[in-house]
Amino acid sequence: MTIKQIETLKTPKIIQQIESIIKPLEFLERSAKNYGELFFTSFFANLETLVVSHPQDLQELFNPTNKFLDAPGTANEIFKPLLGENSLIVQNGEHHQKLRKLIMPPFHGEQMLNHGQQICDITRQAIRCLKLGETFIARHLSEDITMTVILKVVFGINDGLRFEKLKNLITTWLDLTSSPLHASVLLLPYLQKDLGAWSPWGIFLRLRQQIDEELMAEILERRQQVQPLRFDILSLLIEAEDENGEAMSDVEVRDNLLTLLNAGHETIATAIAWALYWIHQQPEVYEKVLYELQSLNTSDPIKIAQLPYLTAICQETLRIYPVILFTFPRITIRSVNLRGYHVTSGTYVLPCIYLTHRREDLYPQPEKFQPERFINRKYSSYEFWPFGGGSRQCLGQVFALFEMKLILATILLNYQLKLEEKKPVTPARRGFLLAPQGGVKMSLVANTGC
Ligand code: HEM
Repeated sequence: MTIKQIETLKTPKIIQQIESIIKPLEFLERSAKNYGELFFTSFFANLETLVVSHPQDLQELFNPTNKFLDAPGTANEIFKPLLGENSLIVQNGEHHQKLRKLIMPPFHGEQMLNHGQQICDITRQAIRCLKLGETFIARHLSEDITMTVILKVVFGINDGLRFEKLKNLITTWLDLTSSPLHASVLLLPYLQKDLGAWSPWGIFLRLRQQIDEELMAEILERRQQVQPLRFDILSLLIEAEDENGEAMSDVEVRDNLLTLLNAGHETIATAIAWALYWIHQQPEVYEKVLYELQSLNTSDPIKIAQLPYLTAICQETLRIYPVILFTFPRITIRSVNLRGYHVTSGTYVLPCIYLTHRREDLYPQPEKFQPERFINRKYSSYEFWPFGGGSRQCLGQVFALFEMKLILATILLNYQLKLEEKKPVTPARRGFLLAPQGGVKMSLVANTGC
């Protein structure tokens, strides 16, 4: 068999970095059009990386029995100043897997299902603050809801001074990532210079320090007043032990709380803002999902989460504009042949979720929002994979879909909303995420709940 040559982008590194920050989708689409389904880039963290998106290549690489890939935490060093050096995301090999096992249980199974009613109540409370006819930004509403879910459900911090303080600090901190300037500071390590309290990186570090102090105080209080029968995820993390009976240290708990907060707040909030946009942009989608929800005749969160059309809406939302464009980088630990292309051992690989989700052969008219795709066809985990794959696959994916469906169902069943702008909403980078530009302007038309 002849070995095919993988091409390298010819544009200078700095141009690739700027384009990938300012216009990431155009950059990816143009690169795929000009260089094919496998190409080398150097826009990510100063590394030469191979962008992969063909389902066959993903299957070859991610299939656990093949053992072609490692998911080194050292490739995620850019997250260290953000999340701390004990964050799951920057751990390597065995330690990474051990930590995952400690953190994972509360996000699956019964523990998670117990939180369903709390998520619906938080949603009702947040939307109650809106007045009839009032214009609001959907992303702000969903951020308010998902932040409260994280603080109450994951951290177990209920109302009070610390709740308000953390909510404000974290909102300001995360908002810093919204502008391209601050996104550049996060994405390009050489810009991370503390030039005083007013410099972009200086503001960032000082806020992180204040958040750290609040989280540490909460962890210490929690350790001192052991309260049995607490089911929030922080209590479970504090108590969790590995097979040798070892628990996490305070700084490990703190860094991983911050990791869960970063990974699990804006991601879901962004997905919900997109879903609200698509549902209200297409009247037939709105009518169909409302009919499905109203026909259910129960408010049981578990039954709501099993609804097929609501599920398809969430899947199509995460397909059309995946909230995260790439997985974390991987590295090949032995050479591999991908459809005739030879990839040597030691190659950094950047699997691209967006390019897979935009394949015409899998998703005809990929730019159209059509939840029916997911009713009519079952996609493999190499064709539809908004949560990544392999050893670093999103730890909160079950929780994320559960929360997303419950928040959407509660809003749709109790409130009639409308889009305030006729023009299509376009995607824009928000830190590491792909979010709706402007956050989706909507208004509250009627209160339809009982
Ligand atoms: C719509 C919502 C979400 C999306 C689209 C999403 C997507 C992703 C993706 C693409 C990755 C990288 C996977 C890889 O490299 O293969 C990831 C990792 C991760 N996600 Fe999520 N995520 C979401 C929500 C959440 C939630 C709710 C949590 C927890 C509260 C969470 C926790 C994490 C963690 C801890 C990792 C790192 C895993 C590791 O390093 O082993 N995510 N997520």
